[in-house]
Amino acid sequence: MWTKKEQLYEGKAKKIWSVEESDDLVIQEFKNDATAFNGEKRGSWANKGTVNTTVASTLFRYLESRGVETHFIEQLSDNEMLIKKLTIVPLEVIVRNRSAGSFCKRYGATEGIIFAEPTFEFSYKRDDLGDPLINNSHAIALSLATAEEIATIQQSALLVNELLQTFFIDRGIILVDFKLEFGKHHGTILLGDEISPDTCRFWDAKTGAKLDKDLFRFDLGDVESAYATMLQKVVG
Ligand code: TMP
Repeated sequence: MWTKKEQLYEGKAKKIWSVEESDDLVIQEFKNDATAFNGEKRGSWANKGTVNTTVASTLFRYLESRGVETHFIEQLSDNEMLIKKLTIVPLEVIVRNRSAGSFCKRYGATEGIIFAEPTFEFSYKRDDLGDPLINNSHAIALSLATAEEIATIQQSALLVNELLQTFFIDRGIILVDFKLEFGKHHGTILLGDEISPDTCRFWDAKTGAKLDKDLFRFDLGDVESAYATMLQKVVG
């Protein structure tokens, strides 16, 4: 049994709680709320928290079994997971296999170009600045991470991409792109946050249908049923 003690943080889609039993572990609670465009657009839908908790827990377990070190300990309920407490590295780590989203907007590219090699980029996690793109040397200059930590994060993110692409294509899903966050736990870099339809782009391999948060961002269709489909594909 793990008992919530105190709410340490509330973000747009999650809350973090301390626990009575340990100073080293925290509970990550997933809400049904969603925002887009740096909080400008708001919404919520049924079972979003449950889908994201269960999808992320399943993916963390899968990645751990393949040698990726993560913050995940166990799924506690429909919308809660027990995790190692991290000091988050303030970088959003984005890997892309096909063009979409801000890549298309920035470069005037059409959606869906299949890249010969995955692309890798960082955004500086700063809502007040709109999460700007940042390069390695600027991240080091700002002491956001060391060169060694950046190398570890990049290596881990590309391994996660290989593993997740295999996981999803076996389930009829194309992993278009995704965002990861890493943090430090007693000096070790671990994969943190979540991996879910909020933080990845998923396209149905047969129909090309979008099955992720883009449906909410751009009002493209029934996001609740797309999330339910993703849950089914991941656990079913
Ligand atoms: P982007 O194309 O908008 O830069 O998004 C790249 C990936 O990152 C996409 O899978 C969605 C995810 N993402 C987040 O998880 N959080 C965010 O705040 C944004 C903007 C994107």
